[in-house]
Amino acid sequence: MNITKAEFATSSSKPSQCPKTELPEFAFIGRSNVGKSSLTNMLTQRKGLAKTSGAPGKTKLINHFLINEEWYLVDLPGYGYAKVSKTDRQTFMKLIYDYFEDRENMVNAFVLVDSRHEPQKSDIDFMYWLGEKGIPFSVVMTKVDKLSVSEFEQTKERYHTKMLETWEELPPFFYTSATGRTGKEELLGYIDECIKLYKASV
Ligand code: GTP
Ligand code: MG
Repeated sequence: MNITKAEFATSSSKPSQCPKTELPEFAFIGRSNVGKSSLTNMLTQRKGLAKTSGAPGKTKLINHFLINEEWYLVDLPGYGYAKVSKTDRQTFMKLIYDYFEDRENMVNAFVLVDSRHEPQKSDIDFMYWLGEKGIPFSVVMTKVDKLSVSEFEQTKERYHTKMLETWEELPPFFYTSATGRTGKEELLGYIDECIKLYKASV
């Protein structure tokens, strides 16, 4: 898929403010600072489209971006980061749960995890919750530019092993770097496939 048009649509503090649409949408979710907004910019090749920051807790609202006038990319606030205030964490968590329970046009959640870190309880718990709700998701390991080839292979294996403790089979995995533009074709190709299936089903 080629992204020829990427435009900011809305910022919402609750699902009822999100665009009323039947267009398919794809959510980017994960711990604060994992690189959700950076990935949005990398995929759309629009540097400042989503606001990024070295300090966690930058994205505070549900941000919809309309892509190719065909689908929405949704950049969400992060969860589970100790340095984000408790009040913000609680607000973000409610917003995230409400969002996923509400959006019937949400086709796939991309759960971003930092490829440098061991599997985190907050991520494993969140994926479990998605599974219970029957919400399809894939895992995106971010910031792979920060790892050597052997470190990358090790963390990848560890992650797969950890997930197979609770899941019978692995969800799709993607490996990305916003700085190196790694994984763009794979992710956009997957989104393309999902859109085709979604259109065939409605
Ligand atoms: P919140 O909105 O706070 O939840 O964070 P976020 O998940 O949107 O993260 P964001 O995209 O703002 O990135 C956080 C920090 O990680 C920034 O300093 C980015 O420059 C950096 N970063 C994001 N992706 C990558 C990557 O692929 N490689 C490297 N080296 N740094 C990255
Ligand atoms: Mg963000």
